[in-house]
Amino acid sequence: MFSIPTLVSLFLAVPTLVLSSPCVTFDADFNLLAFGFDGKDWNAGTQDTWTTGSATDITTTGRPPFDGTNTTCYLAQFFNAVYIMNGDASNPSAVHIYDAAAKSWSTQAVTTGTFDPSSFDAILDHDTNVFYALSHGELFFLNMDDLKVANSTAMAWTDVEKSPYGADYQPVMALASNHIHFLNVPDTPAGDAQIFVIHFSFFQPAPQPYPLSDGSAIPATHGQTASFFQASGVQQEFAFIPDDGSATYVIDVLTNTTQKLAGPTTKDSKATYAASITALVELDSTGALSFLPYKQGDDSANTAATWTKLSKVAVPSSVSASSGTSATKSGVPTAVATNLAGGANATNSAASGKSTGGASQASGASSLGSHGTSAGMMLAGVLAFFAFLL
Ligand SMILES: *[C@@H]1O[C@H](CO)[C@@H](O)[C@H](O)[C@H]1NC(C)=O
Ligand SMILES: *[C@@H]1O[C@H](CO)[C@@H](O)[C@H](O)[C@H]1NC(C)=O
Ligand SMILES: *[C@@H]1O[C@H](CO)[C@@H](O)[C@H](O)[C@H]1NC(C)=O
Ligand SMILES: *[C@@H]1O[C@H](CO)[C@@H](O)[C@H](O)[C@H]1NC(C)=O
Repeated sequence: MFSIPTLVSLFLAVPTLVLSSPCVTFDADFNLLAFGFDGKDWNAGTQDTWTTGSATDITTTGRPPFDGTNTTCYLAQFFNAVYIMNGDASNPSAVHIYDAAAKSWSTQAVTTGTFDPSSFDAILDHDTNVFYALSHGELFFLNMDDLKVANSTAMAWTDVEKSPYGADYQPVMALASNHIHFLNVPDTPAGDAQIFVIHFSFFQPAPQPYPLSDGSAIPATHGQTASFFQASGVQQEFAFIPDDGSATYVIDVLTNTTQKLAGPTTKDSKATYAASITALVELDSTGALSFLPYKQGDDSANTAATWTKLSKVAVPSSVSASSGTSATKSGVPTAVATNLAGGANATNSAASGKSTGGASQASGASSLGSHGTSAGMMLAGVLAFFAFLL
């Protein structure tokens, strides 16, 4: 039998259970990777296989526990690496790195300075492999260099400058064509994005309109984004899903236009999204996955496309995930913790309201040689400028 003090400490452990916080992204071959589902990580394969068979268990040592809050993951396309933020509640500043080719994990130490890892939105720039994050109105960057494996030297979040959008702006950020697009910025017309030009490190003074073909505009509201990848080179389009899930907007930053597509079947303001080249994936706050097929340039196919459940990765049963994770962390035997959690309805109801991690503004990196036209022109401008100095 347990002594009284042991039982007390076991019960005390239950209310502190941290529910698992999954996130989804892709590897560079656009296999869907689902991390932190009941303490396991899965490779669900390429899109043609999502509605059949079962996912491959890729859980291995060195992974973060996926017990953080607002966990997000990002594909560095050029390096076939996945970067995870807030994957470990006990180490919120760390970036966990999954080398998708080697199937191995490492943990990059990061110094935060004034950056608040508990409150930010971020994109991973495709060409420079640098994170940009907006936190409390301040723009920061974190250079991931060419990392597939953590460097023993800590990296640092660096303060760029205050954004012009105010400290209260709740960021809605998306990457396309080396530009960070900010939606739902105060005092900006509906349908317009404010832009930060990465290569010039400069907030563009005027917003850019992205009208729909019927003349209507993307609603000025909070939501989630995910950038569609290209086979190589920078992203040109990104999806915006308002918190009410009423539609999926796809913004093309080369044509300056927006398509309006079906909203996700599960309307969930806490859902997060990841995009490949040909699909948008929703991870809702219960851990269920669904996807919308997408074909760049084919408006009629996209308008007709519908969301499909992706049941290849099982919806996590939060209770066992939470008790298992916490038991391991607090040193309580798993079986005991599971019994305690299973008998406590408080734990069950907490589980249904659990915080689910972010899917990411999926982004990535590629060689400088694969810039899009506008980026190439900017690069030419920079070179001309330096030539002028010489
Ligand atoms: C998680 O994100 C939500 C929405 O962005 C925010 O309101 C909340 O404070 C965040 N929680 C933590 C612990 O960072
Ligand atoms: C680790 O970082 C240091 C300092 O930035 C750098 O000099 C070194 O080359 C890096 N090592 C690796 C293996 O990337
Ligand atoms: C899109 O807008 C930008 C900035 O205003 C402009 O330079 C570009 O020419 C526009 N593209 C098209 C296809 O109209
Ligand atoms: C927990 O709640 C469920 C549904 O409300 C109920 O069926 C079950 O008996 C409860 N379990 C305990 C241990 O109270």
